[in-house]
Amino acid sequence: MDVTISPSILNCDFAHLSDELKKISNAQWVHVDVMDNHFVPNLALGMPIVESVVRTSTLPVDAHLMIENPDQWAPQYAEAGCTSVTFHIEAAKAPFRLTKELKKTGTKVGVALRPTTPFEAVKHLITSIDMILIMTVEPGFGGQSFIEPMVEKIRQLRSYVSQHDLPVSLQVDGGINQSTIVLAAEAGADNFVAGSAVFKAEDAHQEIETLRSLALQHRHVSV
Ligand code: DX5
Ligand code: ZN
Repeated sequence: MDVTISPSILNCDFAHLSDELKKISNAQWVHVDVMDNHFVPNLALGMPIVESVVRTSTLPVDAHLMIENPDQWAPQYAEAGCTSVTFHIEAAKAPFRLTKELKKTGTKVGVALRPTTPFEAVKHLITSIDMILIMTVEPGFGGQSFIEPMVEKIRQLRSYVSQHDLPVSLQVDGGINQSTIVLAAEAGADNFVAGSAVFKAEDAHQEIETLRSLALQHRHVSV
């Protein structure tokens, strides 16, 4: 199982976006959070920022859409050149249709679950998508603490995915740092979003390397 570190730029310094992106150039992906102040109580980043990250970054762009009506808005993030587009299952009206539409553009499709949404909510969609994002904080803000009971949800999903031999990646987002990444990796996550841990570190490059080696060292072994 390979390990992906996807630093979230939600709280980076947007006045110096290209320098901030250089700081994380050793990561595998870059995570961009889109918030509409309806699905979550915060307004952040939108198409112009996503387009400039796609233009400026050397990394694949991972868009996390915390918005109402992804059915209408998600396809334009795929068309803008994001490598992966993740919408929330709680917000999508027709997730099968939306997945099909996103796939047509060649993007990877992710489906996100709020902390209280059970894994069964994506069970029927699981063979059509590339990634499940398990939120490990309530979506909306960076810098919150990891919700520990989510470890069990990661475990359930990993065991389902392994049993059915599905090529689905499990991403975790929220409160990931040097200790929680170990819990998430052991439970079966392989893709880790980290915002404050990376951007508040003195040396972002080093922090990314440390997080990745911890995840590799503690990666889940199927029994
Ligand atoms: C929160 C966002 C996250 C956020 C993570 O709703 O989806 O991507 O930036 O930030 P940290 O790692 O600080 O919890
Ligand atoms: Zn996110």
